[in-house]
Amino acid sequence: MIVIGGSSSPKLSASLANKLGATLAKTDIKRFPDGEGYVRVLDQLDGQDVVLVSNTYPDEKMIETLLLCDAIEEFEYKRFTLVIPYFGYSRQDKQFNPGEPISARAMVRALEVYPDMVLTVDIHADSTIEWFETCDAKNVSAHLEIANKLKEIGVDFIVSPDEGRIRTAEKVSKDIGVPCDYLVKDRIDGNIVRIEPKHIDVSGKRVAIVDDIISTGGTIIKASNELKKLGAASVIAACTHGLFANNALDRLNMCCDNVISSDTLENQTTAFSVAPAIAREIA
Ligand code: R5P
Repeated sequence: MIVIGGSSSPKLSASLANKLGATLAKTDIKRFPDGEGYVRVLDQLDGQDVVLVSNTYPDEKMIETLLLCDAIEEFEYKRFTLVIPYFGYSRQDKQFNPGEPISARAMVRALEVYPDMVLTVDIHADSTIEWFETCDAKNVSAHLEIANKLKEIGVDFIVSPDEGRIRTAEKVSKDIGVPCDYLVKDRIDGNIVRIEPKHIDVSGKRVAIVDDIISTGGTIIKASNELKKLGAASVIAACTHGLFANNALDRLNMCCDNVISSDTLENQTTAFSVAPAIAREIA
């Protein structure tokens, strides 16, 4: 088996290759002077199980993913699995207003022609998986990896910032063996959210808010403020995908005691790897 890492996931692809006992392929990924991307796979892929780890976010990485898929297609590989650690555009999984695209479906249609199998991690909308028609696709849950990290840090209570994420929060709380509850969120627009006041018994407790994505940080900031009002001793923000738009991290650091994310998007908050979860699916 051979693992190819896109430029968005150097650490994750190395961890995954290590977990799978696979070779990490050599690549040449660069830009032409006019900005167009160039990719080249430098290893031989004929007769091999090939795993490509490459994000569809930000937009330039989507192009890179397509180019890498096309490069792989030129080989006589045995099986091709495309791992998309963070599936960008999954939040637009339906038309919210007339005239809009179903962006998640557009991404699927562009990608599904290449691999035999697509794996993604903690996708925002499960419905995205159903758009795949010409290849198999599966969403992998990283709840065990989140739980292991939070157990190591030490937490007493898990909170989902909205009802949409309660299932993940429940799994994480069960893995750790601590209680769980959820807040009620009202999204006004892409930048503004409101968290309804609700009584949760977090007084004196070390609380972790578990979410799939942190983007502007609005959800976590409002949730953290609410939990601190309820007497939480500390609040950790834990997510799978740390996007941290604009100055989100600075603002989060002012109201949370710790911010951690996985390596689906590699950044300064990356504190745990989803490689074991992906490897469990591939091995
Ligand atoms: C929304 O349903 C998601 O689960 C996240 O809560 C959301 O994407 C976070 O966005 P932001 O950080 O901009 O509040």
